Amino acid sequence: MCKAMNRSFANVLFGAFGQLQTKAGHVEQRPVRSASPEEAASILEAASSVIIVPGYGLAVAQAQHKIRELFDALTRRGVDVKFGIHPVAGRMPGHMNVLLAEADIPYDRLFEMDDINGEFAQCDVALVIGANDVTNPAARTDKSSPIYGMPILDVDKARTVMVIKRSMNPGFAGIDNPLYYMDKTLMLFGDAKAFVSEILKELPARAAA
Ligand code: TAP
Repeated sequence: MCKAMNRSFANVLFGAFGQLQTKAGHVEQRPVRSASPEEAASILEAASSVIIVPGYGLAVAQAQHKIRELFDALTRRGVDVKFGIHPVAGRMPGHMNVLLAEADIPYDRLFEMDDINGEFAQCDVALVIGANDVTNPAARTDKSSPIYGMPILDVDKARTVMVIKRSMNPGFAGIDNPLYYMDKTLMLFGDAKAFVSEILKELPARAAA
């Protein structure tokens, strides 16, 4: 894990800037770290445990079948892969369950929020795919946030967080997400289906090397 992480972090650039609204109402420009599909693949395959957190962007991208392929590729390499499902991820009740079932992701790998939240602290990588509000730690810590008090998936407690989304744009609630500015977070900018496809291209190449 460390070998891959050192290699990856050495290559990681401050790849984008996001806006953070301060308490005083000022807007601050803050850098985030981004990583390539190759770097993401090396971090994932070096992990012992990965929790995938899907959200509305998964539905937009129709990435469920590619995510099944990623699940298979990592499981074959001995990585323990679970899915963390937030009750309001997506735009309708059960949205994520429907999509993941469509791709035949084993039901016993799907865990509801309350059942998985205790596991993030021991997890090597939380891979957030097209989810935003349901992972926003401001819900736990920022009393001024409109989502303060909403239960979230505690992805920020994982050792490394990787987030696939296309931009720094907010989600449904229209608010910034402090998760993206944490030192442990890598932004994987792109469409969910396209980015996961690029990660998958890296995995077989590495196995053959
Ligand atoms: P959101 O907070 O809406 O975030 C979805 C994220 O997906 C966006 O930030 C967007 O970022 C990204 N995205 C969109 N298209 C993408 C693509 N093609 N590839 C990759 N990423 C893409 O979603 P969530 O975390 O699932 O939370 C759900 C929200 O909807 C909550 O606020 C919830 O209260 C609300 N809501 C839920 C329901 C039910 S019942 N589930 C009903 C109504 C409202 P980019 O634009 O940067 O890609």
